[in-house]
Amino acid sequence: MLHSNDNPPTDNSDSNLSVKDSFELQRSVVLGCGAYLPERVLTNTELSTRIDTSDEWIRKRTGIEQRHIAADGELTSDLAAAASRRALAAAGVAADEVDLIVLATSTPDNTFPATSTRVQAMLGIKQGVAFDVQAVCSGFVYALSVADNMLRLGQARTALVIGAEVFSRILDWKDRSTCVLFGDGAGAVVLRAMAPQNDSNARGILSTHLFSDGAYYDSLYVDGGPASTGTAGFIRMDGKEVFRQAVNLMSSAVETAVAHNGMSVSDIDLLVPHQANIRIIDGIGRRLGVAGERVVVTVQGQANTSAATIPLALTAAQDDKRIHPGDIVALCALGGGFAWGSALIRW
Ligand code: ACO
Repeated sequence: MLHSNDNPPTDNSDSNLSVKDSFELQRSVVLGCGAYLPERVLTNTELSTRIDTSDEWIRKRTGIEQRHIAADGELTSDLAAAASRRALAAAGVAADEVDLIVLATSTPDNTFPATSTRVQAMLGIKQGVAFDVQAVCSGFVYALSVADNMLRLGQARTALVIGAEVFSRILDWKDRSTCVLFGDGAGAVVLRAMAPQNDSNARGILSTHLFSDGAYYDSLYVDGGPASTGTAGFIRMDGKEVFRQAVNLMSSAVETAVAHNGMSVSDIDLLVPHQANIRIIDGIGRRLGVAGERVVVTVQGQANTSAATIPLALTAAQDDKRIHPGDIVALCALGGGFAWGSALIRW
């Protein structure tokens, strides 16, 4: 497990990072969020005209009613740039203030370069660094953790953290056990490094906790790739195994986060879990004892957009005014690998 917190490293003598001389850690504050969903909506009913499924089966097992599908020629970078522009507008930050872009995706435009570098160019950003993070559905939490740590250490000041996916391109549309579950979309969050404050109620990311266990590699994977087949491949999944582990691992990641910060689950104002399936989301809420009104749910209208679900859900909560400065917001996600994690934020 990896985690970040407010304790400065005691010995930096071996560090080869370009960081501030002083280890007086900054704090990453969320300034705003934005989202983009492709225009085309594919309903369960329409899907049921193509494959042997039904609106009733999909709703009952997953809570999903519809998903958005990228247009031909619409790429992950297009979705990411659109979400980023909205996040920057919500944050009141100009693109040329951004000096770090971390993009979580498992559906990059090309095998390389990093899709984030194309987003950087699309936004007209000339400075700083841009790179991608690949942790499938937990990618946004991983990207947030990486960006948070870089901001804390003074390696950057203003970060765009993006989750963007076009999973429709890696779905086997003849496999009803997977193709009904996913959709396309993007969300982005703007973070700003703020000077440390002694105030225990200071806003910012309080901690991030990351975990992975490669023993589950074959439970959820894509059966292609540049090194194995030379093709992009399609999603393959042991749905029951994913389901079994998801509630348990995401819930314990949240429990670890609150305990680490000397809090309890009752301190959480808003829980924003990865949006894979309403039964998984409800299971996490039940296990943690977080009432439904404190859990953000968007899966019904968007399906599982992998790394994009959390920033999409955060944007929905921001736009609905369900999330307020000072709120304790808990994020958790799990995806292929398995890779999973949590973040605790004082909004
Ligand atoms: N429509 C109709 N019937 C279907 C469909 C479908 N789309 N898909 C499967 N079925 C059938 C199966 O063929 C099976 O039929 P059978 O009994 O005649 O063999 C029957 O429904 C039951 O299938 P199960 O796989 O046992 O269904 P289950 O109750 O496990 O639900 C589901 C499947 C929804 C995938 C569930 O296992 C699940 O939600 N797993 C979590 C997977 C997930 O969310 N993955 C996302 C990526 S990981 C993440 O983001 C956390």
